[in-house]
Amino acid sequence: MVATDGRPAPNGESPAFDLSTYLKERKAQVEAALDRSLPLGYPEKIYEAMRYSLLAGGKRLRPILCLATCELMGGTMEMAMPTACALEMLHTMSLIHDDLPAMDNDDYRRGKLTNHKVYGEDMAILAGDGLLAYAFEYVATQTQGVPAERVLQVIARLGRTVGAAGLVGGQVVDLESEGKSDIQEETLHYIHTHKTGALLETCVVCGGILAGATDADIERLSRYAQNIGLAFQIIDDILDITATQEELGKTAGKDLQAQKATYPSLWGLEASKAKAQELIEEAIAQLEPFGERSQPLIALANFITARTY
Ligand code: IPE
Ligand code: IPE
Ligand code: MG
Ligand code: MG
Ligand code: MG
Repeated sequence: MVATDGRPAPNGESPAFDLSTYLKERKAQVEAALDRSLPLGYPEKIYEAMRYSLLAGGKRLRPILCLATCELMGGTMEMAMPTACALEMLHTMSLIHDDLPAMDNDDYRRGKLTNHKVYGEDMAILAGDGLLAYAFEYVATQTQGVPAERVLQVIARLGRTVGAAGLVGGQVVDLESEGKSDIQEETLHYIHTHKTGALLETCVVCGGILAGATDADIERLSRYAQNIGLAFQIIDDILDITATQEELGKTAGKDLQAQKATYPSLWGLEASKAKAQELIEEAIAQLEPFGERSQPLIALANFITARTY
């Protein structure tokens, strides 16, 4: 178990890793980079709508995972920051579109009104499109100090992750499964690994690619990320039932109301929590060969099940 309160470790080992300070610092760095990444332009309304959701807060878990992995594999934060920002642009796009009336029809996100509630459905669709396209432009034009073939690999990976083979595919099956009472575990696994797991896996893998990690290390990191990705969506499903709107910054209790296919609806809350914990332990086990240096990724994995928002 990793201590997170900053106390020095007993018996002269290196000091305990303080996740809350780490997250706070990284989040501030990501927020500043995101703010710089997207200045206002003409037509102002679309840039405002894009910035409204991109800079609305959130845990920033995806960029932080990318930065942490790049550093673990011997790269620098600077090498990964444009990709980290692009990952948050893609995630934000997926949230704006996920909240549209044609999809989950949600009024609140990140403690604020959803994009379409403020700017209208037309602008919200376009703000998502704008962020989607800009993410690719941003990685291609802003990445520095990384060989071009690695950047190309990252761009290809991002495209596959958010397309029909990844996030889009997961969202399709999520929507098709609404209101059905006979969803099989296999289908639910597909939904979660595609709509959520794929992007989280890509955050970690891209951090590794940018740092020039070996294929064997990338494979190990992929397994870590697949496990935390599935656990992340299981916990999201659990929190939809157990947390409040104030805690989540988005309406609670929506999944039951919309008859969504979720782990708690299939297995119940306790078994879902146990599954998430098991996945996190499996994820952490993958990091063993990396030793001490993997403390941030271990702590981030533990944060996924411990979180309350
Ligand atoms: C919400 O993601 C959407 C899911 C994939 C479950 P997060 O819980 O990471 O949302 P933010 O970025 O912190 O707002
Ligand atoms: C989120 O799934 C998946 C994507 C946004 C791609 P949910 O629909 O469960 O996410 P929340 O609960 O609205 O954040
Ligand atoms: Mg959804
Ligand atoms: Mg939703
Ligand atoms: Mg949810």
